[in-house]
Amino acid sequence: MVDGKFICRLQCPHIWDRYELCQECFGGKDRDMQTVETCRGENVTILAIESSCDETAVAVVRNGREVLSNIISSQIDLHTLYGGVVPEIASRKHIERIDQVIAEALKTADRKLKDMDAVAVTYGPGLVGALLVGVSAAKAISFASGLPLIGVHHIEGHISANYIENKELEPPFVCLVVSGGHSHLVVVKDYGTYEILGRTRDDAAGEAFDKVARAIGLGYPGGPKIDRVSREGNPDAVRFPRAKVADSVYDFSFSGLKSAVLNYLNSCEMKGLPICQADVAASFQKAVVDVLVEHSMQAVEMCGMRKFAIAGGVASNTALRSALEKECKERGIAFYHPSPVLCTDNAAMIGAAAYYEYRNGVRHGYDLNAVPNLRLGQRM
Ligand code: KG4
Ligand code: ZN
Repeated sequence: MVDGKFICRLQCPHIWDRYELCQECFGGKDRDMQTVETCRGENVTILAIESSCDETAVAVVRNGREVLSNIISSQIDLHTLYGGVVPEIASRKHIERIDQVIAEALKTADRKLKDMDAVAVTYGPGLVGALLVGVSAAKAISFASGLPLIGVHHIEGHISANYIENKELEPPFVCLVVSGGHSHLVVVKDYGTYEILGRTRDDAAGEAFDKVARAIGLGYPGGPKIDRVSREGNPDAVRFPRAKVADSVYDFSFSGLKSAVLNYLNSCEMKGLPICQADVAASFQKAVVDVLVEHSMQAVEMCGMRKFAIAGGVASNTALRSALEKECKERGIAFYHPSPVLCTDNAAMIGAAAYYEYRNGVRHGYDLNAVPNLRLGQRM
């Protein structure tokens, strides 16, 4: 007993004032072996839902690292028509698809709802209407089934994607998170504990890829298209700026680079010079990759860490992956990267993050809400 409260007999992270066992070991379930294992985090199966942007995704994940199913229903075709994600359309499509995607994830995993130990969902950051669909579905499942509800931070999900294919990876490590809405350099100090070293001051890396792709006529989604076209281009054809932020070696700024590409395109047009799409794409991509690699390696060296991981949609970029692989090899740093399908939005990563939240005792009530601007490390 501590300060008049009981610690769970199994030494799980909860402290309860009425029972010798915490709610997970006692309340609602029988004291059978499975519950005891579950409380220790030894046999935990989580149904995870992700709907923060334009993918309706549901996964079943065991013990944070074993993916039993990972279903992703992409809306890319619909949004391509408009040159980018239309929030209202994204929300409507999530509503239409979410039930089917949940059913398919359970079926593929060969599991029923009764086999789950918790239901997890992304509750921020993201598009509010899109997030609300996943959050409402997860709350309804939790209410109807009695499963504990765990809200997960989308970026923590991206980082946790690294645990799935790298069974030996454990914190601490440095992680570069580069997605459509975020560019962060973080120290993952422990499961669920992060220190932000640097972030973008303006556009996210993925946003810059998308905007430049539109400007050079590649369309949406920009990142994968620039990645592909760049293989045919000369990365040294045009020297675009590598922006530095005056008062921080780890912060990023990509809006100047985007403007430089637009200025280059305008000046070619005015002078009547031809534009080589592949050269511009490759030169822009090299400028982004150079900055990401330089800042990342500075952070790894400064922290004295020998483990470095990447996460987020832009982490699937082939030039970035090979540049980081080379740098890490030369410096004797272990380099971790999820497969491309686990870099872009998916629910397996949410199930991975949720497992460690579950073990840390995180449980949400039915008042869980979508938080579009949720900060990394923030808990609501
Ligand atoms: O992580 P993500 O799927 O969604 C967000 O959380 O934002 O990232 C999407 C972003 C988009 O901006 C997309 O253009 C970019 O990731 N992206 C890429 C590649 N694949 C996706 N950027 C560069 N190269 C790629 N291969
Ligand atoms: Zn994402």
